Amino acid sequence: MRVLVCDGPDEVAVTAAGIVSAAAPAVLGVATGSTTEALHGELVECRGVGGSTVLVLLDEYLDLPVGHPQRYRAVVERQLVRPLGLRTDRLIGPDVDAPDPHRAAVSYEAELVRRGGVDLQVLGIGRNGHIGFNEPGTPFTSRTRVAMLSATTRSDNARFFAAGDTVPERVITQGIATLLEARSLLLLATGPAKAPALAAMLDGGRTVEVPASALCAHPDLTVVADRAAMAAVQSRTLMEMT
Ligand code: F6R
Repeated sequence: MRVLVCDGPDEVAVTAAGIVSAAAPAVLGVATGSTTEALHGELVECRGVGGSTVLVLLDEYLDLPVGHPQRYRAVVERQLVRPLGLRTDRLIGPDVDAPDPHRAAVSYEAELVRRGGVDLQVLGIGRNGHIGFNEPGTPFTSRTRVAMLSATTRSDNARFFAAGDTVPERVITQGIATLLEARSLLLLATGPAKAPALAAMLDGGRTVEVPASALCAHPDLTVVADRAAMAAVQSRTLMEMT
């Protein structure tokens, strides 16, 4: 594991964009949220994703109407696909409009295999230590499936929704075992709200109560975090300063 400590969120985004563009992944796993939005901005700025790259969604809401701006496909189209002029059929995600979402989740996992697997998976971390939408208590053996969001995550994500709009309860997420199959992982964390989760991930040993702790067993994991997010981490020997 490599842990790169940056001064603040802007440096995290620039550092992460450098890692993504240097890796030039054929299949790039993308996540959404505030942390990765900054990365996407940098990737657009430095044109860090080529036209031949396939983008695959880590997770997606169920139960949002077609055309809803918070569908993660729509978010990634706005943040990456359109600004970079990529073809929309190069963005792959689970079919959340299928009549049977459980089957759609299984098909999505098969599609990832058909595409040769994910070369580089970008991840954020939830305040409760979630990765993708694998909430605390999720077995490390979990595969892509329909999952329920915790109350904490729904309330954290309410900021992305218009007033009066409801954050869905159900999602399709890649499982922990699924995302661990990516050849490289890049986890980003910024701000003091992520400090307890990052400390639990890096100092607390592997436990299902902290889904992100599963990543520590991956042979090619890079964590890029700012000082505020790293504030409670004790394992200083792991760190490199950018
Ligand atoms: C979203 C996802 C989530 C977010 C996490 C952090 O696709 O998989 O795990 O990465 O909730 O979100 P932010 O960056 O908004 O704090």
